[in-house]
Amino acid sequence: MTTAAAVYDPQLPGGAAAVAASARQVTKAYGSGETRVTALDAVDVDIQRGRFTAIMGPSGSGKSTLMHCLAGLDTVTEGRIWIG
Ligand SMILES: Nc1ncnc2c1ncn2[C@@H]1O[C@H](COP(=O)(O)OP(=O)(O)OP(=O)(O)O)[C@@H](O)[C@H]1O
Ligand SMILES: [Mg+2]
Repeated sequence: MTTAAAVYDPQLPGGAAAVAASARQVTKAYGSGETRVTALDAVDVDIQRGRFTAIMGPSGSGKSTLMHCLAGLDTVTEGRIWIG
């Protein structure tokens, strides 16, 4: 999956104005033990405000999982999400 360069730091003043959502070192795992599936593995991405962003990749690569986590609709296993 291609990710945008991390240009903005959402924790710095002004950063949040330019970035709609950010992920830092986000890992999402479903299940545990032998059935554990790592859908996202330490993802860093900034979704810029006012721009169209496409998330592309093969089936099962974690596109829906990433969007659910970025939107706050699902929890992350590790890492942090900032919205707004
Ligand atoms: N609720 C769930 N429980 C267990 N595993 C899941 C769950 N949701 C997704 N997965 C697994 O996580 C991985 C990523 O799935 P995800 O649905 O995010 O991929 P996707 O890129 O959106 O795929 P598609 O293009 O088919 O929509 C896959 O291996 C999938 O089987
Ligand atoms: Mg999907």
